[in-house]
This record gives sequence, C-alpha cells and structure tokens, in this order.
Amino acid sequence: MTAQLACMTDDLGPEEAMLVELDGADGAPVPVAVARDADGNFHAVSDICSHGAVSLSEGEVEGCLVECWLHGSQFDLRTGQPVQLPAVRPVPVYPVTVDGDKVLVDIDVTVPVS
Ligand code: FES
Repeated sequence: MTAQLACMTDDLGPEEAMLVELDGADGAPVPVAVARDADGNFHAVSDICSHGAVSLSEGEVEGCLVECWLHGSQFDLRTGQPVQLPAVRPVPVYPVTVDGDKVLVDIDVTVPVS
C-alpha cells in the first residue's frame, strides 16, 4: 500500500492533533494521531497510547510532544519514544508527506527509531 490521504493542511494548527482512521493491510481501520508541532511540521503516530490504550489525539501537543490525557505520559512525535512515565514503550511513528494542501501518511512502514 502507499501513502493515504489523512487530512488537509488547514485541518490542524500548530500544537493540535486529530484522529484519522486509515486502511490497514487487512482492511481494518488503523487509528492514527496526526499532529502538528509548534513549528508547524506534521507528524503521525499510532493513536493508541502504549501504556493504557487510550487515544493520544485527545491529549495536548506541546512543542514536539504529545501528552496522554489519562496518566500524563509524553511521547516524542518524531521518534514515538516516551519521555515521561508511566509509559515505557514507544508508539509507532509513520512517515508523513505534505503534497500541496494534502497530508499523506503511510502506515505500512514505520519510521526507524534512532
Ligand atoms: S494510558 Fe496513556 S499514560 Fe496511561
């Protein structure tokens, strides 16, 4: 599969996130949190917090971090790594391409964590 249309650039302002459901390889919807950092760059991570399986897109975006609303774990949108407990496992990060006013996300590959 290739990159899928997730949203339009105007759908998100800086430090905002939204939930989109993209088509998984098996046809099942895959929840993805598309977020814009403080500099206006787009990021896409799994919407499911690795600690308690709640929606990360419902949390706050601060700088390049998204904070889980339930217990306060923060994840780096660039790497998916938790930088604040209680979460200890990363969330998958998906490559984002901005094509004009379209934000495209490829959920078939994950961005390698450095
Ligand atoms: S459910 Fe996200 S930090 Fe606990």
